[in-house]
Amino acid sequence: MRVALTHALLQFRLLQLWWLFCNIWDSQAYDSLRQKALDLMREAPLIDGHNDLPVKLRWFYENKLSKIDLRTLNTTQTNIQKLQAGHVGAQFWSVYVPCDAQDKNAVHLALEQIDVIKRMCENYEELELVTSAQGIDYIGRNKIACLIGLEGGHSIDSSLATLRIFYELGVRYMMLTHDCNTPWAQSSLRQTSSLYADTYTLTGFGEEVVKEMNRLGMIIDLSHTSDATALAVLRLSKAPVIFSHSSAFSLCNHTGNIPDHILYRLKRNNGIVMVTFYAEVLTCGKDAVNILTVADHFDHIRTLIGSEHIGISGDYDGGLRHPEGLEDVSKYPALIEELLRRGWSEEELKDVLRENFLRVFREVEKVRDENVFMIPNEEEISQDDVDISCHQDLKPPSGVAILN
Ligand SMILES: *[C@@H]1O[C@H](CO)[C@@H](O)[C@H](O)[C@H]1NC(C)=O
Ligand SMILES: *[C@@H]1O[C@H](CO)[C@@H](O)[C@H](O)[C@H]1NC(C)=O
Repeated sequence: MRVALTHALLQFRLLQLWWLFCNIWDSQAYDSLRQKALDLMREAPLIDGHNDLPVKLRWFYENKLSKIDLRTLNTTQTNIQKLQAGHVGAQFWSVYVPCDAQDKNAVHLALEQIDVIKRMCENYEELELVTSAQGIDYIGRNKIACLIGLEGGHSIDSSLATLRIFYELGVRYMMLTHDCNTPWAQSSLRQTSSLYADTYTLTGFGEEVVKEMNRLGMIIDLSHTSDATALAVLRLSKAPVIFSHSSAFSLCNHTGNIPDHILYRLKRNNGIVMVTFYAEVLTCGKDAVNILTVADHFDHIRTLIGSEHIGISGDYDGGLRHPEGLEDVSKYPALIEELLRRGWSEEELKDVLRENFLRVFREVEKVRDENVFMIPNEEEISQDDVDISCHQDLKPPSGVAILN
């Protein structure tokens, strides 16, 4: 009896030891994966495709940078200290203007958002505005490259001249539509605005916009566009395109996500999808959302078209809710750690963090350089196609005639 008891006790002790050993081993594995993720990100700092801090500056601080300290700002998901902790090396700041401003003061608001991004990136020595792939590569080790992305084609007010000036101001991608149709491109959320309800796919003028973006060297962003628009652009564009913040439609059928058949087309175009963390598009609001949910989208797209067509886009300060474990811009390493755990190689992850985006950007610049002989596009949209009730035309006053 006594012997049996001792035996049982021994077995129990052995089990306890085994359990302890497993735990130590596990936590070491955890620590070493986290360390590996951090080392990797130090070597290949993230280029993130979409951050909406500028609109928060507008909403809550009227773009008055003198009133806040961006190093430690704690009312947003983004500040400079957190970007550094998250190993962000380059950030596309979003110039977001609501669809309600279409045909009203969208251009003016977009200019003010570009102004605040430029001032923010000048005011802080940790930030520096860049406008080329080389600029991202050459940025100092401890600096974060600022890039500008225009969220929504309504902000060019159907004017190629305005598009060109935005390029001159440093805008390097434009999302063709946000949640509303423009007179020349269809949005995936076409029903949210009654404006231009008849726009289907990409119109003739929309094709001119795409060609002009190719000529300028501005990256075309297809997030938020309808499938028909995306397919039309993928057929037409001479340069690779991006989806600046979208995930996989087959895992969550949200209108912001990309169906598999378009992902295949994206692969042929050599473009990338910068997978977003915005909780709503990851699970369609169904379940708790965490790092595993995000990683599932990465896995799906990698299986379908390969990791060379993937980038990262936190959509911080944009989406209403972010996954557990990815609450702010300091948390990117947690995702890299999970992807390492799932067997993604270090080389793949360096590409996902940086190189895939740089490949697309360099290709876009190459198309621009190969087309330097082309003159600026002088097409104008037909006045019949736009709501011009808020527009003043530039015509000579009465009595002023051309000399002849
Ligand atoms: C946020 O920052 C403000 C001003 O710097 C400070 O007074 C406040 O305590 C901070 N809040 C938190 C939750 O850290
Ligand atoms: C997504 O799926 C649900 C359920 O099957 C359906 O009701 C909804 O209309 C779908 N949404 C889209 C955008 O396809």
